[in-house]
Amino acid sequence: MNSILSKVDRTYFIETFGCQQNENDSEILAGHLEQLGYLPCGSPEEADVVLLNTCSVREHADDRFFGHLGRLKTIKQEKPDMFIGVGGCILMQPQNQQKILESFPFVDLIFGTADLGRFPDLFFGAADARKTYLAVGPAEGIERQLPVVRKKAHRALVSIMYGCNNFCTYCIVPHTRGRERSRPKADVMQEIRDAANAGYKEILLLGQNVNAYGKDRNYEDGDFADLLADAARVPGLFVVRFMTSHPKDVSARLIETIGREMTVEPHFHLPLQSGSDAILKKMNRHYTSAQYIAIAEKLRQARPGLTLTTDIIVGFPGETEADFAKTMSLIETVKFDSAFTFIYSPREGTPAAAWDNHIDKPTLNRRYQALTDLQYALSRQSNERLIGQTVKVLITGPSESDASVLSGRTADNRLVLIPLPETSLQADNAETRYTNTVVSAVIRSAGSFSVEGSLVDP
Ligand code: 5AD
Ligand code: SF4
Repeated sequence: MNSILSKVDRTYFIETFGCQQNENDSEILAGHLEQLGYLPCGSPEEADVVLLNTCSVREHADDRFFGHLGRLKTIKQEKPDMFIGVGGCILMQPQNQQKILESFPFVDLIFGTADLGRFPDLFFGAADARKTYLAVGPAEGIERQLPVVRKKAHRALVSIMYGCNNFCTYCIVPHTRGRERSRPKADVMQEIRDAANAGYKEILLLGQNVNAYGKDRNYEDGDFADLLADAARVPGLFVVRFMTSHPKDVSARLIETIGREMTVEPHFHLPLQSGSDAILKKMNRHYTSAQYIAIAEKLRQARPGLTLTTDIIVGFPGETEADFAKTMSLIETVKFDSAFTFIYSPREGTPAAAWDNHIDKPTLNRRYQALTDLQYALSRQSNERLIGQTVKVLITGPSESDASVLSGRTADNRLVLIPLPETSLQADNAETRYTNTVVSAVIRSAGSFSVEGSLVDP
């Protein structure tokens, strides 16, 4: 038996790449390891067990993973008893599993996106084996009652469904996470109530396309609008967030629920991807730019002040200057409060990757630059509207770059930085004292990514 299983004070370190779904999966892996008696530690060098939870949605994410594995090899040479497990989206693809088996044989365990429930068995199986244990199961099924160790003090991530049925032609997710599976509503609500009782003020309902919640269960537990309304009525919460949504599945009931339930965030993250109808069609998105604009208008009518954020891909294969101009113009029309912008990245196994009309790099870079310049200006304008207002902020902790500055988010998901006055800095643990509390701040200045304010009645 591998000696890590007999050591006392055993420690683990989990490195997570990619989306919040992966963050949540890592919280469950941490839950299993802590139940097995492992304690968290700060770096792979100190750890007895290192897990890498990978992402393959864009190119740099898998480059970073293989780079990391190279570094782990050096650590393992010095600590041969260290256990290394790799899981998540990258490992769902057979060519990547082979790459690990051939080029990174020091890895102990390879597991998949739907293997969280049986992780302890896989872990012990791998620790007993003398070579890499390839244990990737199919992306199907749903788990009940998994342990969880939440990473953030203020926010509970709650997966409501897994997988995606949409097969956007650029996207690897349906290939790595399988078809849509909704968790039973009773399980989801229990998890939300437990989190609220434990003091979490923010719930983030997660799924690749949360708007499709319940569809695979014939809506026997209701749809996403029902779930959102029930979640919002759990006592003690500051805000209930959700992501990600698909424009084709935004129902009138959902819009009405967002207008009615004040604990639901006054924010909607609605990926547009492109402003050109021709490109949207090639992406297999099933909506037009006019339909998108209509949804945006309805949302803003239903919930005045709602912020709208989006994802945009530039340089999808075949994107012409005219297509790109339509994206720019739609961004101007809708005036997103913020956007995640991506350069198209071919993902092996997706239809678009095999097309022969890919856009050259200088054009990609030029369009990306123009897009981000425009969006940053719009984001700044949006944030500037807050100057002089007093807003409620859920404090998430000290700012990463300066511990004397509190960082938090408004219900409409704006990042707020609050420098602490000297006097409260001297008080014990001023920064952590505020974490997971809701404060009022008056906004003094604004940039593209955040606003800055001062505490009201600190
Ligand atoms: N290339 C670039 N961006 C992508 N996204 C998904 N797949 C790709 C890809 N192949 C973006 C989409 C999605 C977000 C999570 O990542 O905008 O909404
Ligand atoms: Fe990918 Fe499209 Fe599914 Fe989102 S909706 S996960 S972009 S296939």
